[in-house]
Amino acid sequence: MTLQIIVGAQWGDEGKGRIVDWFAAQADFSARYNGGDNAGHTVTVGSQIFKLHLIPSGIIHPKVIAVMGNGMVVNPCTLIDEMEILRQAGISISPERLRLSYAAHLITPAHQALDRALDARRGRGNIGTTGRGIGPAYTDKASRRGLRLADMLAPDFCERIVDHVVEANRTLSMLAAPELDPRPVCEQYREVAGRLKPYLADTAFELHTALGMGKTVLAEGAQGTLLDIDFGTYPFVTSSSTTAPGALTGLGLGLDAARGARVIGVVKAFQTRVGSGPFPTEVFEDLAMRLRGTGEHPWDEYGTTTGRPRRVGWLDGVLLKYAIRINGISDLAVTKLDVLSGWESLRLCTAYRHAGKDLREPRGGAFTDLPFGPADLSPYEPVYEELPGWREDVSAVRKWADLPPAAKTYLERLEGLAGVPVRLVSVGPEREQVVSCP
Ligand code: IMP
Repeated sequence: MTLQIIVGAQWGDEGKGRIVDWFAAQADFSARYNGGDNAGHTVTVGSQIFKLHLIPSGIIHPKVIAVMGNGMVVNPCTLIDEMEILRQAGISISPERLRLSYAAHLITPAHQALDRALDARRGRGNIGTTGRGIGPAYTDKASRRGLRLADMLAPDFCERIVDHVVEANRTLSMLAAPELDPRPVCEQYREVAGRLKPYLADTAFELHTALGMGKTVLAEGAQGTLLDIDFGTYPFVTSSSTTAPGALTGLGLGLDAARGARVIGVVKAFQTRVGSGPFPTEVFEDLAMRLRGTGEHPWDEYGTTTGRPRRVGWLDGVLLKYAIRINGISDLAVTKLDVLSGWESLRLCTAYRHAGKDLREPRGGAFTDLPFGPADLSPYEPVYEELPGWREDVSAVRKWADLPPAAKTYLERLEGLAGVPVRLVSVGPEREQVVSCP
C-alpha cells in the first residue's frame, strides 16, 4: 500500500496544488482531508489555470479518482460551481471520478454570516479569516449539532436546515448582525442536495480497499502546518488539522496506512502568511513589495481565495524544522525558487535569539525547542545567515546541475537546516517547470 501525504510546511499558500499535480501523475486517488473553500490550490497546465478551492487538484489527471474526505467542511454551492468550471475546462466530473465522504460537514450561509460577524467582533485582535464559514462549521461539528453530507439524504433535511439557521440567527442577533431567512437557504440546499447525492460514498472504506489493492493514494493537505488548530500559531489558525497525521483522521485511515507513508512537505523558498498572527521574519516596504510582486502575475503573493495581499518575509528555518517534526516530513518540495532570482544576497533565518542568547542545535541545525509551540513567538528575534544571491533566470532549468551555484548553496543550506532531502524544486508556474533533485 502506498500513501503519500502532501502537506504545507508554512502558513499555507506554499504551492501545494502544483506539487500534488506532479505526484498525481503517478497516483490512483487524490484525496483532500481537511478544510473547505478557504483553500485555493492553483495548477497551471499550458494556457489553462485551474484554481481549485474544494476538489482535490489531482482531478486534473484523467485517471485519478478524487476524494473529499470526512475531515472537510463543504459548501455545496461552491462545490457545484467548481464542478461546472472544471467540466467547462474539459475535465470529466462524474460520481465515478469524484467521491464525497458522507461524514464531511456542510457549510451553510449561516456559517458564513457567523464567521464574518464573529471575526468583526474581535476588532483589532481579529484572525482575518477567509469569511467562508470554516470556523463556525467546525464549531458545529465539535458541538455535535453539525449537518453532515449524509443529512442531505434525510427526508427531513429541509427542517434540519431551518433549525440550523434559526439557531444561528440567535447568535447573529446577539452580535447585532443581520439575520437570515431560512426558506431560501432551505430551497437552495434541497436543490444542491439532489445534485450531489450520487457522489456520496463511504470514502474511508474505498480508500482502505484501494490501499489494500496496492493503489497509490495521494493525501492533499490544505493550508499549512502553522495554521493547524493544535500545532499552529494559535489562535491565529484555521479550525482543522492541517498536518500530516490529520490525513489519517480526515480520510478515515488506520495507522497501518501510515506504515511506509511518504510525507512530502511543501515549502516556499521564502515565507508568506495571510491574515493576522506572529511572523518573526516578516519584511516591509520595498523588500516586501519585491517579494510580493505587483499583483499583475497570477503567481504574485495575493490570496487565491480572497485576493488579499500576503505578508511576506525571509524563510524561517526554525519554524521549518518544527514543521518537519510535527508532520514527520520525509522529503521536501521547494517552490518559487525563481522569485529569488536577481537578488544581491538572501537571508535565511537559522536560529532564534532569546534573552541575548542564540538558540540553535549543536550541529548547526535550526533550533526547534519552542517550549509552548509557535503560538507566542514574541520573545524571539530571528537570527539570519546572509547567503549570496544569483542573477540568472532559473525558470528554464530542469536539472540540478544547471542551477546557479548560489541557488544550490541556498537549497543545500535549507536542506541542512531541515535535516531532510529536497527532492523537487519548482522554478515557475508551469507543470514542467520543476527540477528533480539527485
Ligand atoms: P479560516 O480558515 O477562514 O478560518 O481563516 C483562519 C486563518 O487561516 C486566516 O488567517 C486565513 O487567512 C488563514 N487561511 C485559511 N485558509 C488559508 C489558505 O488556504 N492559505 C493561507 N491562509 C489561509
